[in-house]
Amino acid sequence: MNKGHRLTKESDELSMYPKHLLPLIKNPKYFGRMNDPIASAFIKGPCGDEMEFYLLIENNIIKEVKFYSEGCPATILYGTATAEIAFRKSIDEVLSISPKQIAEILEGVPEDHSHCSILAVSTLHRAIASYLLKK
Ligand code: FES
Repeated sequence: MNKGHRLTKESDELSMYPKHLLPLIKNPKYFGRMNDPIASAFIKGPCGDEMEFYLLIENNIIKEVKFYSEGCPATILYGTATAEIAFRKSIDEVLSISPKQIAEILEGVPEDHSHCSILAVSTLHRAIASYLLKK
């Protein structure tokens, strides 16, 4: 695919999102990888999009959280919202986060992207599970 075609595809995709969400897609908070996480997880969704979560945990509290995805704009939005909700919460609180709760925060994401919230929350929960299982 040439670069011009890719940019056209990206702007077509973004035109489906409300304007107030565009800055969050273009400059997402908590986005990136972590060098020395205490826990991490990676899941590839059935659509082929991938999500990674990285955590630093102290005294059962999420001290730092980052996510990484090269997926659709909704994965970026849901990754951001999931990380925002998890930041500074206890492990128990994080395990009670649901994809529905994340989807309700981000009004305006196209409905056919609701599985992206499942991908984000499931990856976070898998990172927590890997932490608990190696304790
Ligand atoms: Fe599959 Fe977004 S389209 S995770």
